[in-house]
Amino acid sequence: MDKLIVRGGSPLIGELTVSGSKNTALPLMSAALLTDGPVTIHHVPNLRDVTTFRRVIEVTGTTTHHDPATSTLTLDATNLTKYEAPYELVKRMRASFYMLGALLGRGGKAKVSLPGGCAWGPRPVDLHIQGMKALGAEIDLDRGYVVAHAPGGRLQGGRVRFEPSSVGATINVLLAAVLAKGESVLENAAIEPDVVEFCTMLRAMGARIEGLGTRTLHVQGVDQLNPVTYSNCPDRIELGTFMIAAAITGVPGSPITIRHARIDHLGDAFLEAFARTGAELEIGENLIKVTAPNELRPVSVKTDIYPGFPTDLQAQWTVLLAKAAGNSKVRETIYPDRFKHVPELHRMGVNAIVVGDEVVIEGGKPIQGTNVMSTDLRASVSLVLAGMIAEGETHVQRVYHLDRGYEKIEEKLSAAGIDIERVSYDEWADPA
Ligand code: EPZ
Repeated sequence: MDKLIVRGGSPLIGELTVSGSKNTALPLMSAALLTDGPVTIHHVPNLRDVTTFRRVIEVTGTTTHHDPATSTLTLDATNLTKYEAPYELVKRMRASFYMLGALLGRGGKAKVSLPGGCAWGPRPVDLHIQGMKALGAEIDLDRGYVVAHAPGGRLQGGRVRFEPSSVGATINVLLAAVLAKGESVLENAAIEPDVVEFCTMLRAMGARIEGLGTRTLHVQGVDQLNPVTYSNCPDRIELGTFMIAAAITGVPGSPITIRHARIDHLGDAFLEAFARTGAELEIGENLIKVTAPNELRPVSVKTDIYPGFPTDLQAQWTVLLAKAAGNSKVRETIYPDRFKHVPELHRMGVNAIVVGDEVVIEGGKPIQGTNVMSTDLRASVSLVLAGMIAEGETHVQRVYHLDRGYEKIEEKLSAAGIDIERVSYDEWADPA
């Protein structure tokens, strides 16, 4: 098992490059199942979640090839014969549930394991099931599997309203609707950039979707979609993570350049909060420059659906508030109890208390490096950020969580001046 050892105190200098978006690449990959022939996707990061999803997709007979050197992924579903997604793989990554919409859309049948829960709450899929039923699918639950089929072999267009708005359910129902017979209407659809990029690729394949970027999507089902070559967008959550890193460890007056950056994908709430911290932001062509302020100001935030403050940046923002002198709070409105990082930050001396759906922070006090445990993807990167501003060494254990969503993070950060290294360790024997 690997851990990251971070020695605090080194400033971030120079530049960082954002990889392709994990949460966009996964739906783009599932779209490849809707057509026969090679689908090529550029800027696909070399992440555990991408590898896991490739394994899930290959169970169907679809072939995949990923070249990490060029970040190019090619998929070919010509020989797709098996309409299943097994528990052993789906349990590793919730987004595997996209196989339900993809297989139903392509062939009118699917046997897909229900995804497991995760570190914070049950994370239901009721909206996904509701959407498939709205398109005429007959659904049974059989020993942990969703078994679905379209009477007559093809789904019919239908109307579905998502309450609450759901990124995954919107994507899953789109996968089913684009090849259904007739029109579908998706109300209160998610408008995250992941969804807009996904719809753009589907349209490039021949899908008929109107209302991109709005909360009402109109889909006219077509009989066939065509292979396509498509470029994935940069990862907005990695971008936000790097901006926070620059604000808390940059040298005032020395801008950090962050390349391959789509700043508009972060939404106004994050950008406004970031500006209020005193950090300076200069926007260039496909890049941004961030300059840390002399005095970081605490800014309370509340997570929300796009364009609200991204829940996937909530843990990282808490570390910024731990550095900024003063009292502030973060309210999480998307998930119950997405605060598993807070007890670990406590161990480092961060004065933060979870009260209901909020974490209240008294920032500005020195924090100390120590052993800490990753519990989920975004919590683990918040511990790396905390190690960067702590005194001494922080051992961030179980970084397999972090490897799900951050490509080569220790290489990127150490090339920008941070003292960080990856080492293997035996969790039961490690004396540190
Ligand atoms: C996507 O998850 C992202 N994952 C998550 O990022 C992100 O946190 C989340 O959207 C919110 O932005 C991927 O894109 C692979 P939702 P998803 O359905 O689709 C409730 C990361 O760190 N809900 O938008 O699963 C749900 O419980 C991950 O990269 C239902 O009630 O999120 C939550 O409260 C973590 N019923 C809310 O909707 C359903 O059927 C939003 O969830 C589905 C969801």
